[in-house]
Amino acid sequence: MLQIRPAIGGDAALLCTMIRELAEFERELDLVTITEQDLVRDGFGEHPQFRALIAEWDGQPAGYTFFFRYYSTWTDQGLFLEDIYVRDAFRGRGIGQALLAAVARIAVEENCYGIHWEVLNWNERAIEWYKALGAEFRDQWRPVLLHGEALERLAKKAL
Ligand code: ACO
Repeated sequence: MLQIRPAIGGDAALLCTMIRELAEFERELDLVTITEQDLVRDGFGEHPQFRALIAEWDGQPAGYTFFFRYYSTWTDQGLFLEDIYVRDAFRGRGIGQALLAAVARIAVEENCYGIHWEVLNWNERAIEWYKALGAEFRDQWRPVLLHGEALERLAKKAL
């Protein structure tokens, strides 16, 4: 039996574990620095910076999704889907779809124009899954990240 529920502060350790599992799947585990304490501080305090949903199958943690609001200068409120993940043993049972549907319902209820996310170009299974759900691939746009030394260098040039 599937249950989808909002994450609470007491889920921070579980979220941290599943975030690391997804990062390992994405072959980027070495880039993860987030801690349980970071999640408690940033997600479950007075001004939460993200929301998360936990999927449980017969009471067992089976997956999660992690998202937050952003603002588009073209269309105003949107949701950014940072992560969606279903543990290996639970895949193909409709859990991922139930998680994404729950985020879609929140987007509609909160008058968001859409949900935005990124997926690695080798993750064909997820890409096909997103297509089957009707998501649009914006191939003319390239994701950009300024970080590390380049970020520090540019920040020093601020007036
Ligand atoms: N292509 C087309 N349809 C598919 C595919 C596919 N590759 N995979 C599943 N489906 C169909 C299923 O048959 C099902 O259809 P049905 O209800 O008509 O039978 C429907 O899609 C629902 O699939 P789910 O069972 O909900 O998929 P699942 O629970 O396995 O979750 C997910 C999908 C989240 C991609 C999961 O497989 C997963 O965690 N994969 C590894 C991690 C990952 O790739 N995460 C996404 C990274 S991108 C990001 O996080 C923003």
